[in-house]
Amino acid sequence: MKNIIAPSLLSANFGKLQQNIEMLNASEAEWLHIDVMDGRFVPNISFGFPVMKTVQQHSTLKNDVHLMIEEPEKYVEEFGKLGAHCISFHWEACTHVHRLVHQIKDMGIMAGIAINPSTPVSFLEDIVQDLDLILLMSVNPGFGGQKFIPHTFAKIQQTKSLIELSGSNALIEVDGGVSLDNASELFAAGANVLVAGNAVFSSANPSETISQLKK
Ligand code: DX5
Ligand code: ZN
Repeated sequence: MKNIIAPSLLSANFGKLQQNIEMLNASEAEWLHIDVMDGRFVPNISFGFPVMKTVQQHSTLKNDVHLMIEEPEKYVEEFGKLGAHCISFHWEACTHVHRLVHQIKDMGIMAGIAINPSTPVSFLEDIVQDLDLILLMSVNPGFGGQKFIPHTFAKIQQTKSLIELSGSNALIEVDGGVSLDNASELFAAGANVLVAGNAVFSSANPSETISQLKK
């Protein structure tokens, strides 16, 4: 599986959203990471359906929706209609995880579960075989530009073992504090998809930074 970069829209310039998305379309990024925050599951509010509609109009990338919201089951259908390629929700925010995973898959969309830095990988033991993606948070969710938590490397290893043991096809995505300093190490450790917000959008040449992150 080749290395996938998923720039995070959260760090984009919202006054130039269309131009930012077009720049990403023309880059080596394959996925566009879309962080939805509700001010309840996480201590921040980002954006929702109107922004997703703009994304749908302009993005030619695979739209990777990361729901950091309570009651995610209420909103997946609408995100599906708005062109999500993959929808991840938080294990910590959902009681009926199996039901929601299948609700997403029944729409023909990749289903992912995100876990916080302090949530054990082993909690996914009984659902891993149904998953298309496991999203490991490498910062506490809520904000861009935070410092990478090194324990994530151990969690990548654990996730790899879990996936291998179960025969699952799930991809491993790492989200938070990804930069040119740790990207190649993360891919080498077993990550398939790296989310990058600050590293891409604060760089002088975002498109070039995406190419470098991929290597
Ligand atoms: C954090 C979000 C991340 C964030 C990553 O809660 O889930 O996707 O945008 O941003 P950076 O790459 O700046 O840490
Ligand atoms: Zn995210």
